[in-house]
Amino acid sequence: MAQIEKNSHTMEQNSTVSNTLEVDGALLPTPSRELWEKICNFQARPDDLILATYPKSGMTWTQEILDMIQNDGDVAKCQRATSTDRHPFLEVVFPYKRKPDLEIALEMPSPRMLKTHLQSHLVPPSVWKQNCKIIYVARNAKDCLVSFYHFSRMISLLPDPQSFDKFCEKFMSGEVLYGSWYDHVKGWWAAKYQHRILYLFYEDMKKNPKREIHKMLEFLEKTLSEDVINKIVHHTSFEVMKENPMANQTAVPSNIYNHTISPFMRKGMPGDWKYHFTVAMNEKFDEHYKKKMAGTTLTFCTEI
Ligand code: A3P
Repeated sequence: MAQIEKNSHTMEQNSTVSNTLEVDGALLPTPSRELWEKICNFQARPDDLILATYPKSGMTWTQEILDMIQNDGDVAKCQRATSTDRHPFLEVVFPYKRKPDLEIALEMPSPRMLKTHLQSHLVPPSVWKQNCKIIYVARNAKDCLVSFYHFSRMISLLPDPQSFDKFCEKFMSGEVLYGSWYDHVKGWWAAKYQHRILYLFYEDMKKNPKREIHKMLEFLEKTLSEDVINKIVHHTSFEVMKENPMANQTAVPSNIYNHTISPFMRKGMPGDWKYHFTVAMNEKFDEHYKKKMAGTTLTFCTEI
């Protein structure tokens, strides 16, 4: 079992307080050691599909695509509940829900689709033992950071990022929720050589959603007509999802997600970092990035 470094760590911001737990250096939105132990002992089923990402890397988008795939492109079925309610997280406790997502997952009939932002080495061992299929989505570090910064401004459960510069430093040192982006993307990249993991990139999905949907279909051993695939591309486009109350997270209580500060569906485009980074910050970031990513075969699109 992973090392729990602090029993309970309290993060405070605005008027809301949220309990988190530090596990192996990563701060998790899991309020107690007891719950963490339950997560570690979680019994995965062989037909569970796991969607894993670092925060702000396109989880909601990929979730909508996968739900559309699983429901053969039936939009009405995908409108049955909000994204937060349709597929539970392994580790998240939403204060407005009746119970932790884990408990909701335990009660769900098969086949389940479950979500996680955990680093690969923190995933419950039964997920590996049951050889579950996992779809991982990575997003380039700078856009992920920018998205995380704005998300931290609008969500009352995270500490106020104060300034973009300060958040940049915290992101680089991994002092953000779920820990280091570098460890996350590299850990899952290494895991894909041993497990059934489809490793996708946000930027590829943006550039050619149809091609990436075909990859998902092949991985899931499913076929759909081109008409249905086109329907999925349309329904899961940024513009359509932004207007979809079941996907745009506006159903989350406003004391938790304040969309007037920054909407959850914010910009949805690669390259927004250019409007945030100064030249000096960019140089510092690039230097740090080179060191952290040295020796890995994992590369991100350089055109952004
Ligand atoms: P931005 O803040 O850059 O706009 P997550 O769901 O993992 O929290 O990721 C949220 C990010 O994905 C946000 O990025 C959000 O706008 C973007 N996103 C959500 N749906 C999308 C879609 N259909 N197409 C492109 N980006 C999308």
